[in-house]
Amino acid sequence: MEKRLAGKVALVTGAGGLIGPVVVRRLAEEGAAVAVTDLVPDTAESLAADINNAGGRAWAAGLDVTSEEEVGAVFAAAEQQLGPIDILVNNAGLLRQRSEPFQLTEDSVWKRILEVNLGGVMICCSRILSGMITRKRGKIINLASIAGVSGLPGWADYAAAKAGVIGFSRTLAMETGRYGITVNCVSPGMIQKETSANSGTWLGRSGVPADVAALIAFLASPEADYITGGNYMVDGGRTIGPHGATW
Ligand SMILES: NC(=O)c1ccc[n+]([C@@H]2O[C@H](COP(=O)([O-])OP(=O)(O)OC[C@H]3O[C@@H](n4cnc5c(N)ncnc54)[C@H](O)[C@@H]3O)[C@@H](O)[C@H]2O)c1
Repeated sequence: MEKRLAGKVALVTGAGGLIGPVVVRRLAEEGAAVAVTDLVPDTAESLAADINNAGGRAWAAGLDVTSEEEVGAVFAAAEQQLGPIDILVNNAGLLRQRSEPFQLTEDSVWKRILEVNLGGVMICCSRILSGMITRKRGKIINLASIAGVSGLPGWADYAAAKAGVIGFSRTLAMETGRYGITVNCVSPGMIQKETSANSGTWLGRSGVPADVAALIAFLASPEADYITGGNYMVDGGRTIGPHGATW
């Protein structure tokens, strides 16, 4: 694979779930040293060990993105281990298992969804920016969702948080462009471990983590140096418009 990220250092949050490990492996395959972090450190640690054993460079840590103290400490430790962070992928996310109308959602529940999905992104960006501004380079990639664009009945809190991520990222792109920093969102539709038939998309199938990782790697690479403030769907066309054709 082409090493578009040779010499770069990346940090990925929430790297232990469905999409995160595939993103980490893709960034490492393209030559980046990767700080692999998650609330639950086990998967992050075994992933980092795999990458190191395969000749790449990775370091793992437990990280709760809602803790200002942890974010500060882990980012500093990552930079000590791997060098200044060039690429931040804010991938950590939290979705309620159960769908419910908003009037039934307890305040503590929707506040936690906002805290993780929006607050976590804001804390991580806040901690990374001063270094990127000093170095006059940096790529921030925030995982939003098509829910933040179209809405998602049953998950109003998640849709609100992801819409917030998109607005926040756009504004940050405006504020940091002068320093050579790019800020973009990636908005997946339905992503599953294995692709399956999905008539809600125009491609007729659900996506897989590799579909998302490919876009993130591109946005992290010098090939995307002139791209900032965007929100890119990886949704098989789900948000283009509703299905209506009968042929
Ligand atoms: N899978 C999809 O279909 C889909 C669709 C749209 C958007 N997304 C977004 O893509 C990103 C990755 O999705 P995924 O499917 O891999 O999710 P996932 O639930 O499989 O993984 C999310 C990871 O985030 C971690 N996490 C949760 N709370 C955290 C916290 N406070 N601090 C740090 N880490 C925390 C979890 O431990 C988990 O490993 C998320 O932001 C998600 O909202 C996913």
